[in-house]
Formats: sequence, C-alpha cells, structure tokens
Amino acid sequence: MTTKETLQQRVDTLLAAMTLEEKAGQLSQYFYLSGVTEPPEMAAQTEFLDSEIRAGRAGSLLFVSNPGETNRLQHIAVEESRLGIPLLFGFDVIHGLRTIFPVPLALAASWDPQLAEQVQTIAAREARAVGIHWAFAPMVDIARDPRWGRIVEGAGEDPYLGACMAAAQVRGFQGEALGSPDRIIAGPKHFIGYGAALGGRDYDEVNLSESELRNVYLPPFAAAVEAGAGNIMTSYVGINGVPGAADRQLITEVLRGELGFDGFLVSDANAVLDLITHRFARDDHDAATRAICAGLDMEMSFGVRSAEDFTLKLGAGAFATLPDAVRAGSVDEHLLDEAVKRVLLLKLRLGLFEHPYVDEERAKSTLNSPGHREIARIAAERSAVLLHNEGGVLPFDRSVVRSIAVIGPLADDKPATLGPWVFAHDLETTVTVLEGMRRVAGADMRVEYAPGVPTPKRRIPSPFAALEQQSADTAPQSAPFDEQAEFERAVELASSSDIAVLVLGEAPDMNGEGASRSTLDLPGRQLELLEAVAATGTPVILVLLSGRPLDLRCAAKQAAAILAAWHPGTEGGLAIARLLFGDATPGGKLPFSWPRSVGQVPLIYSHLRSHQPQTSSMRYWDEESTPLYPFGFGLTYGEVAYSNLTLHSTLIDLDDTLKVNVEVRNISSRPVEEVAQLYLHQRYGRAARPVRELKAFERIRLEPGETRTLPFEIPASARRYWSSAEGAYVLDPSTFDVWVGSASTAELHAEFLVQESTSEPPTALLN
Ligand code: NOJ
Repeated sequence: MTTKETLQQRVDTLLAAMTLEEKAGQLSQYFYLSGVTEPPEMAAQTEFLDSEIRAGRAGSLLFVSNPGETNRLQHIAVEESRLGIPLLFGFDVIHGLRTIFPVPLALAASWDPQLAEQVQTIAAREARAVGIHWAFAPMVDIARDPRWGRIVEGAGEDPYLGACMAAAQVRGFQGEALGSPDRIIAGPKHFIGYGAALGGRDYDEVNLSESELRNVYLPPFAAAVEAGAGNIMTSYVGINGVPGAADRQLITEVLRGELGFDGFLVSDANAVLDLITHRFARDDHDAATRAICAGLDMEMSFGVRSAEDFTLKLGAGAFATLPDAVRAGSVDEHLLDEAVKRVLLLKLRLGLFEHPYVDEERAKSTLNSPGHREIARIAAERSAVLLHNEGGVLPFDRSVVRSIAVIGPLADDKPATLGPWVFAHDLETTVTVLEGMRRVAGADMRVEYAPGVPTPKRRIPSPFAALEQQSADTAPQSAPFDEQAEFERAVELASSSDIAVLVLGEAPDMNGEGASRSTLDLPGRQLELLEAVAATGTPVILVLLSGRPLDLRCAAKQAAAILAAWHPGTEGGLAIARLLFGDATPGGKLPFSWPRSVGQVPLIYSHLRSHQPQTSSMRYWDEESTPLYPFGFGLTYGEVAYSNLTLHSTLIDLDDTLKVNVEVRNISSRPVEEVAQLYLHQRYGRAARPVRELKAFERIRLEPGETRTLPFEIPASARRYWSSAEGAYVLDPSTFDVWVGSASTAELHAEFLVQESTSEPPTALLN
C-alpha cells in the first residue's frame, strides 16, 4: 500500500515537471457529449477535446459513460500527452448508473441511511466499472420550496435528515477511504444555498441570513465533509450577490477553514465563465482569477463559449487564461500549485496511474446485475410513503379483489418510472407499475390497462431534452391518442373492475434541473380522470409518481388510498405492486411538509413560534396554514403505540449528552415498518428556536404484538446553533421539550433542564 508521504512525493515530482499550461489543464474539466445527442454546435467537440487532452490542457472530462470511450480517451492522456497524467472522469451518478434506484428525495423518504449507503455503493460499482471515477452527488441542498424542480435531487427540508443522508451517500460512493476498490469520489453539491432560489425558480437569486445559512443549509455539507467527501461542487447561484464559484468567504473560510474540507472544489457547469453573465466578473481573465483566488480548484466547462448573443463557439474554459494571469502577476502560481496538488493526489489515491483503464467485459456483467436490481426493488419499497388508506383498503385482499383496472398515463411509462437524471439506464428492463401489477397479481386475476389521458407535457420544453435519451423514448404518447375515446375507455374499465389503480403524477422532465413549476397541480387532465373514475364507485388507489409534493386536496377526498411512490427506478413497478398486494410493507415517511396548495410554500415544520402561536394554523383567511400531511408522516399496514418516554436525567450540564428511551409497540395484527422520530425544542435562549427540530430517528420493523425499547443519545452538539444576536455558535442553558413518535406531530412528551456547565467551559464545544 502506498503511504501518504510517497503519494505526496510523487505529486511534488510531477508538479515540478509541469508547465503553467499543464497545471491549468489539470484544473480544467470538459463536457464530452459523444454518445448522447449533442447540440449541432458541439459536433466538432470530439476533435477539439482529443487534441486538448493530448496537449495536457484537459485533466478531467464529464459525461462519458461508455467503457470503450473512457479507455480510448484515457489512452490519449496516458500514452500521448507529455506527462502521461490520467484523466479523471466525472458523471452525474445521481440515483444509479445502469441500475436506477429511486430518486434521492425518495431515498430520503426511506429514512434509512444504511439503505442510501448501499444504493450508492452499487451506483459507485457500476460507475467505476465503466471508467467513471467521480459522482456529482449527493445533492445535499436543503429544499423548502417544492416549486423548485431540484427538490427531487436532495433530502428535502430538514437539516438533520439531510445531514444523515449526505454522510451515508458519501460513505456509499467512497467506501472506507478514497481509493477503495470499486468506489468513486463523492461530490456533494451545490455549495451553498441553491435551494433557496426566489420563488422556487431555478437559478434565481438567493438571499440568506447567516443564521439560516448556518443552522439550515450548512449541516448537510458539514456531515458530508466529516464523512470524508473528496470533492464539493459550488453553486451556480450566489448568496447575497456573490456567485458560488467565487465566494472566498464561504468556500475558503467556512468550507475549508471552519469545516476542514481538504478535497478539491469544482465549479458547476460553465459557472466560471458565468461570473461574467452574472455581471460579477469583467471578462474571462477576471472570472478565472477571481475564482482561483477565492479557492476554487477546478472549472467545469462546456467547452463552448456562450456569447451574450447566445451563439455557441467551441473553445477552452476560463481557466485556460490562468497561465497568462500568473505571468502577468495577477495570480500567484502557488495558488495553482495547491489546486493541482489536490487533483493529482486524488488521481494517485484512486490508483489511476497504476490502473488507468477498465475491463470492458467485466463492465458488462456488473451493470444492471440481478443483485443490483434486487436492491433497487427493496429501495423502492422502503421509499414509498402511504399517505392515506381508508378502511384498510390496502393491502388488497385477494379473496375480494379479482379484477384490477390499471389506469393513468404513467402506469406504463418507463421514463416516468425512472425519473430525471438518468443517462446510461436501460429502458427495456425497466419495470412499470402495469408490468409489476401483472406479475404480482398472477394469472387468475384480471389486470387491464387504459391510459385515460396522454402523458402530461411541459408547456415550456426542458432545456435538457436533447441530452436525455428518455425524451425520445416515450412511446405511449407518440402513438396517435384519441383523447375522448381513451378517457371513456378508462372510466368504463374502472366501472367493470373491483379496484382502480390510478398512476398519476409528473413526467420525468417535470422535475430536476430547469424544471420549476408555478403550481403543484396534477398536470394535464389527470385530476379530471381521477374524478371521473372515482364517480364510478370503484375504489380508487392513487399511486403518485412525482419528484415533489402535488396538490392533493381534491384527490385525497376521492381516493380510498394514496401511495407516494416518487420516481421509483428500474424495479419500481414491481416494488409498487408488492406494496399494494401486501408482499412488502410500506414504512416511508415524508422528508418535507406536504402543503395543501402552492400558496402556502415555503411551508416547514421547524418554524419559529413567533407572535400568536395559537393562530399559527389560521394565518391565511382562505385556507388552513397547516400542511396536508406533516413532515415525518407516513402510514404502514398496522398500528404502533409509543409509551414510557424516559430521560436519564431531567437536569443536565451544557455539554452533556441526553439519553432517552422510548417503548414502541406494534398493536396490530400485521407486521409494521415504523420510523421513530425524536424532536427537541428550546424554550428560551440567545435566539428564538424552532417549535421543534428533528434530532434522532430510527427505522424499525415490528412483528404483531412486538415491543421494542429504543435508546436515543442526543449529544450537546444537537443543541448548538448559530445565534445572530451573538454572531457565533452558542449552547444555551434552557428548558427543553422532547417529543418522540411517528411524525413531527408526535405528542409523547418529556422535558429537561440544561444548566451552565459545572466542569468544562462551554466554549470548548464551540470551536
Ligand atoms: C449542472 C448541474 O447544476 C449540476 O448539478 C450537474 O452536476 C452539472 N450540470 C453536470 O451535469
């Protein structure tokens, strides 16, 4: 095993041999779009980039997922460039590469960090097999406005759940340490605050107070850094007018200085040149200089320059100007050296110098293997959230349900089953809900299908349509569709069946990047279809495929059951069918507060008590200001009861850990999946604190009648927060409430007092 010292020496030796152009090259990453549909302006890209690699002017590429192509490009770098430094290949491995797992928001809804870790371990194995070394994931941006399309990529609204999911995914991608076999570098993103875009509009400005930044948006990044993330991506947007790629205070002082991040920082795509677009930098020299001086290490570049008139021109990124900047004395060469060292060290730690190529045969057997698909199915089962189940209509009773009408535009839609951010998937082997229902129902049950309405379409097309294979593959709506006849056929089918399973929601291009919405309606005529089907009197099971909460006020009145199944991935349809038939037990919980209507957003459970808390559910005169379903909510088939909440002491010191025990009992005759959640509230201190905040949770399974005592340990750091009154992190002596239960509305309560430390001074915890 190579020691750190020898790696460092190898880095130094390489660095000493490098020209300024080669140094800038190691800091330049380019999109390489061969293999996916490329915009015509970029057709000459292959030739351009091959020559940049040969000249040592490109150190990393993104978007290559074909092992033959990664090998071809790697051969150029290793055998034809002067120093033979291998390329680092990055990719958006967001929820799988070939085997597609539920979208990240769904994984968060599993409240199962171990599962998230396992999923990203598999994603890493598949990625590494084709020559990818680095995932631009996990996205750890807190998202509190579901109009923002990228809510689907993260863990929702809560900093603690977000931190747990962030750390788990980093561990999954990277393994024990960077360079572990079959693992890749994790790149948590987008540092920082991207999710707070005004109006939920992707790329719009972000204005955050320091306390919101530190108490809400920073914890998932801190957890990812602590888990050893090798890379972090900065944000397109900036906070308070300073774009992410050039915010020295945040990336150097907070991220590196305070959090101790020691990996390398990459910009988002074209975000260095974008500093000009933002009206922040004067020109590309100024942009590159300010980014590197702020602490950015690598520029991710389209390899095309987008002029103000929107014409595209092939060319190097802004970092190609750095050699001149060093020669002109505007950038200290030492800054380049530090950045290059970080990149080279990672290439060495990954073993790329020893093993630059991949085994193309091995890649074939790794991708989409049965073992990977099985975890994809389990992940989809554990992610689904049962929102409503009137009279226990679910799971189906096979002795009563003999015929099922599967209805809706998404019931047999493979791209919608997979969701956004998939580029190297296998559409053919994707299991839709219809297929899953047919398999699980078995030969002696009638399962028939009618789409009812066409697949909903965006009014303004996705800016990424050209990149996504899925957009060309949406078979159902490309065939001629007689809307009236199909609508009637669906309704008739429902009336002649025992149960109607309606699969409605969002097409995959309706969420993700560039996919913000101004409403949360079920797009198109889907609600009308649901109402017509419900009017037949046949019980309706609504299976919702989406990447965000939708407005379910009407649907909740008409459907007997609602299962939020997100975009569940490769085996999603099978997972959903198994849940509906009771072969699997639902136990997911919401990672966000589900609003009643779009007018309520942002709506969060951990709000401040503020003035007149007794009217907090009546803040609008036209509608309740509570959520339709609270944060942490989700049903199972069965029921649990919580009791005996005990604290090890009701008086603790400032820096003490609180030990909590609670009993959870399955009081039903079915096995249950439950997530026990613990919330804290501080009654007074140096800033007002939220009404309650999640501080611990555990997902468990209980057999009928089983009781389990769950121990939770709440360290002092869970009470630490940023007080804007102090301009510092503080720990307050105060009275605290603690609740444990099934959701953020948990009622089982205890309280404890925190007194000034009698031993250590509190500042010990603050640094
Ligand atoms: C832009 C997105 O913001 C980022 O999340 C993604 O990783 C890059 N493009 C690369 O595709």
